[in-house]
Amino acid sequence: MNRVMMRLNKYIAECGAASRRGADELIEQARVTVNNKLVVELGYQVNEETDDIRLDGEKLKLESKVYYLLNKPKGTVTTTKDEKGRKTVNDIIKTNLKIFPVGRLDYNTTGVLLITNDGEFSNKMTHPKNKIPRVYLTKLDNDLSAADKTKLSRGIILDGKKSKFTNMSFPETNNYRKVLVTTVEGRNHFVKRMFGSLGYFVKDLDRVSFGSFDTENLKKGEYREIPLKELKTFYKKYKN
Ligand code: URA
Repeated sequence: MNRVMMRLNKYIAECGAASRRGADELIEQARVTVNNKLVVELGYQVNEETDDIRLDGEKLKLESKVYYLLNKPKGTVTTTKDEKGRKTVNDIIKTNLKIFPVGRLDYNTTGVLLITNDGEFSNKMTHPKNKIPRVYLTKLDNDLSAADKTKLSRGIILDGKKSKFTNMSFPETNNYRKVLVTTVEGRNHFVKRMFGSLGYFVKDLDRVSFGSFDTENLKKGEYREIPLKELKTFYKKYKN
């Protein structure tokens, strides 16, 4: 976001020509020119908007970045391809760009799924150090007891480490099977395993928000492109 100047190796990598390390090798092999001048200096800065950058004489172009918010329906997998031939979220979004889902949701989990071709954005959303909150509406097979609610919000041991929901509430009065939970965790099946460890079965799971993105105005299976303005708001809110 708001870049313009960036390292040459990063530019080459973002164009999909090589990994960053691979790009350094291409630079050292004197195969890269910037504005018709050979550049062999690692760390060389380029202007992504105005510089003419070529590999072996061929102009490199940055793929434009796209960001989608899908209200994932049940019965879809969050991989780009499925060996069992099941419907993937990439079957829903129509684009020629190489897009991928940001993190995972289970086959029958619904709700906010971000899909992009921007690896940095994906890292920002999913890297544990950023602690981006995910809010899930959970339907349980049994009423959640007050004691278990306390345990899950204070922390239990899961995968050998202390794990908790950072917020828990009952959105409906007198309904203790419907629980809204917030977590900053992206571990696989985290919500189901947290409840499962205390003997509850999660019958339905819907991610209502991820960071500042939510499913407002989107029915299950519908998606929209995220405008730049909304991305900027996100980066401002979660800068660190
Ligand atoms: N936690 C789960 O158990 N499943 C999901 O799909 C997401 C979070």
